[in-house]
Amino acid sequence: MTVVVLLGAPGAGKGTQAPMLAEHLGVPVLASGDLLRAAVAAGSPLGREADRYMSRGQLVPDHTIVRIFLDQLKGADAATGAILDGFPRTRAQAEALDRALAEHGDRVDHALYIEVPLEDLVERMASRRICAANGHVYNVATNPPQVAGRCDLDGSPLVQRPDDQEATVRARMAQQVPPLEDVADHYRAAGILRTVDGRQPIEEVGADLVAALASGDPAQVGPGEPGSGS
Ligand code: AP5
Repeated sequence: MTVVVLLGAPGAGKGTQAPMLAEHLGVPVLASGDLLRAAVAAGSPLGREADRYMSRGQLVPDHTIVRIFLDQLKGADAATGAILDGFPRTRAQAEALDRALAEHGDRVDHALYIEVPLEDLVERMASRRICAANGHVYNVATNPPQVAGRCDLDGSPLVQRPDDQEATVRARMAQQVPPLEDVADHYRAAGILRTVDGRQPIEEVGADLVAALASGDPAQVGPGEPGSGS
């Protein structure tokens, strides 16, 4: 089983890079934000609870997200491993993940941190669009679709995420970046954290992430400065 945790502040490029890493390793992507947005769209009790936090830019409580995310990880699709996009987001979540994997003699193999300065992220999120059907990620400035307003992969309309309004983005940064640093410290202490400069073009960030998977040393990959932002 190969388990890769993809870390980064909101908008750092986790959702953009996760499918490429998944294809590279032959494992699925499990994205906590997608799981929660599906629950919100379904109007389930979980979705109604999650929406109260997500719409304010706050993290969903650990006990809620840990339960649903680890259930998903136990699913048959993830039997050979997974790319975890957006989970864990707190030290408590990271410890719960470690315990769940250890029950089967597994562990997190790689933690890849995409670093982007916070001031770049607000702008990125204002121009982000996702497809209504499957959440494929675009950017009207840096990564537009071939046909304006339509997903290249499934043809569904492109929409703006409700939590990409500037005020909510700023709240997400303020509330979510400090616990993210705790998670990075957790994996740094375990010797498996690799940091990649997320200010580069999408393809170069992807190449650095693949190189980081292959690299034996926990070190900066790419030209960015360690600790340059998020
Ligand atoms: P989630 O959906 O996970 O949001 P997020 O972590 O805030 O991350 P984003 O999806 O906003 O950004 P991303 O890093 O995937 O960037 P993307 O690739 O889209 O979570 C949503 C909410 O759910 C949270 O706020 C929280 O409330 C809740 N939640 C989720 N997980 C939780 C957990 N574990 N615990 C508690 N609560 C949880 O890229 C952004 C834009 O930039 C796109 O337009 C893209 O095209 C563009 N872009 C990407 N890379 C580049 C590049 N290299 N150069 C230029 N543009 C780029």
